[in-house]
Amino acid sequence: MPAAVRSTSFTLAVLLAACAPAERDRGVSPGAPLAARIKVADTRLGRAVFRQCAACHTIDAGTGDRDGPNLHGVTHAQVGRNSARFGYTAALQSVGGEWTCARLDHWLTNPAAFAPGTSMHFPGLRNGLDRADVIAYLYANGGGKPACR
Ligand code: HEC
Repeated sequence: MPAAVRSTSFTLAVLLAACAPAERDRGVSPGAPLAARIKVADTRLGRAVFRQCAACHTIDAGTGDRDGPNLHGVTHAQVGRNSARFGYTAALQSVGGEWTCARLDHWLTNPAAFAPGTSMHFPGLRNGLDRADVIAYLYANGGGKPACR
């Protein structure tokens, strides 16, 4: 295969891989504003995204903390105070105020940028639709309807 053809098919493969099925089906790009992403957010997909969180977090009411705090109802909580028993960092608690959709979106993009010094050692979710889906999932577990919908 000539080099030019090879490189063209490589470029196509990269483009196809970058265009996630979720984006094609929903007509909203991962880089769209939060309100647009939340409008098409899917709790079931959010449950699948939450597998990345489940190593450290439980979601059901009354379940214990792991490396991270239990997240049931976190969307109604003060930042860094959802679980009474968990040993939060001052870095997170000093942010103050309540969780909102916008704050969760920011936190889940890059926890260390939102609260420098946080003990949530997670690089963040780069895909904005994954963030919207998991935020919808958090609202569905003890938080009611997303306030930002
Ligand atoms: C490697 C472990 C780990 C992973 C993976 C992880 N977290 Fe966390 N998370 C933590 C820790 C630890 C804290 C407490 C941070 C602090 O006190 O600075 C936390 C805190 C939080 C909080 C704030 C809780 C509160 O009471 O205010 C939210 C919301 C949260 N995580 C959501 C998520 C979501 C959603 C994911 C998956 C996309 C995730 N986390 C992945 C460890 C983790």
